[in-house]
Amino acid sequence: MGTRIIGTGSCLPATIVTNDDLAKIMDTSDEWISTRTGIRERHLVKEETTTSMSAEAARRAMENAGVTAEEIDLLIVGTLSADCVTPACACEVQAQIGAVNAVAFDINAACAGFMFALNIANAYLQTGIYKTGLILGAETLSKIMDWNDRSTCVLFGDGAGAAVVRAEEQAGLLAFDQGSDGVKGKVLACRNRSNNNPLMETSKELEYVHMDGQEVYKFAVTAVPHSLQKTIQAAGLTVEDIDYFALHQANIRILQSVAKRLKVSEDKFPISLDHCGNISAASVPILLDEMNRKGMLKAGMKIAMSGFGGGLTWASAVVEW
Ligand code: ACO
Repeated sequence: MGTRIIGTGSCLPATIVTNDDLAKIMDTSDEWISTRTGIRERHLVKEETTTSMSAEAARRAMENAGVTAEEIDLLIVGTLSADCVTPACACEVQAQIGAVNAVAFDINAACAGFMFALNIANAYLQTGIYKTGLILGAETLSKIMDWNDRSTCVLFGDGAGAAVVRAEEQAGLLAFDQGSDGVKGKVLACRNRSNNNPLMETSKELEYVHMDGQEVYKFAVTAVPHSLQKTIQAAGLTVEDIDYFALHQANIRILQSVAKRLKVSEDKFPISLDHCGNISAASVPILLDEMNRKGMLKAGMKIAMSGFGGGLTWASAVVEW
């Protein structure tokens, strides 16, 4: 039995904000952002929420897979920016799409969230506990950005991506690798709301994402090639056997460095960050959906995926399409 991705979907907010738009409200430029990151524009929410984008991405993935909401028995959302502390985004999505037979919960593995969700779903599907999973990565990062900090806010965007996974006879997910390093977690962090219990001095300061960009870069260009190599080897394949590398879209320089370290052409690394920016957990499923809808994914192709980010966390998988 294999865990197969049988459908994908995604949803981006209607409003596009270009680098030039940002340059009108802060001291930055298209030249600075695009040369250092590869990002030219991102979508930011106005009306949309993490839940509404997730529900729309989920509907598109179910339609693409040809499954009904009632068939879904497992619904996992990877997110660090759910609309509520509780209920979970997954429970809200369950209600919106009518996945009445699903168990629904969120996981937080930051930018690796979708990949963690995939690997969790695989474990459930392979043990026969559940049969049809709907997994998502969804973020409204614009609400946790400090819009006075040009070094972080220009990097991120909002959106949601989804995939339907099912246990089937054919091969699917061939191998995976997951890891975390909590000791280095502070290099990419955002504190939760502060405690205002009567025993404590209350801070009224709002909490935003803080990032040591260079440390994150060093982590990514070391951990990701290693994790990918380990996963490809565990799948019984070589780097040359991989048709596409669908990686978390943080920064073009990270992708170029991973390609170089793996000695693979950059052409095998599809890009969505130019028009999406970094959407944390949503990056990988949005990219996968774009590839799917462009007809890039053919039966039998081997796709290596990897997510990496806050925690620190990383997770990779090799799937046969
Ligand atoms: N526009 C113009 N100038 C800027 C901007 C901006 N948006 N942001 C920072 N600068 C300035 C700084 O003030 C600094 O100026 P100074 O030299 O006069 O002090 C200069 O540019 C260099 O700043 P650095 O922070 O050192 O910029 P760096 O060259 O390291 O590039 C970047 C920053 C692109 C984030 C880089 O560290 C990087 O590639 N990091 C990888 C990690 C990453 O992409 N993280 C994203 C999310 S994490 C994840 O998803 C895993």
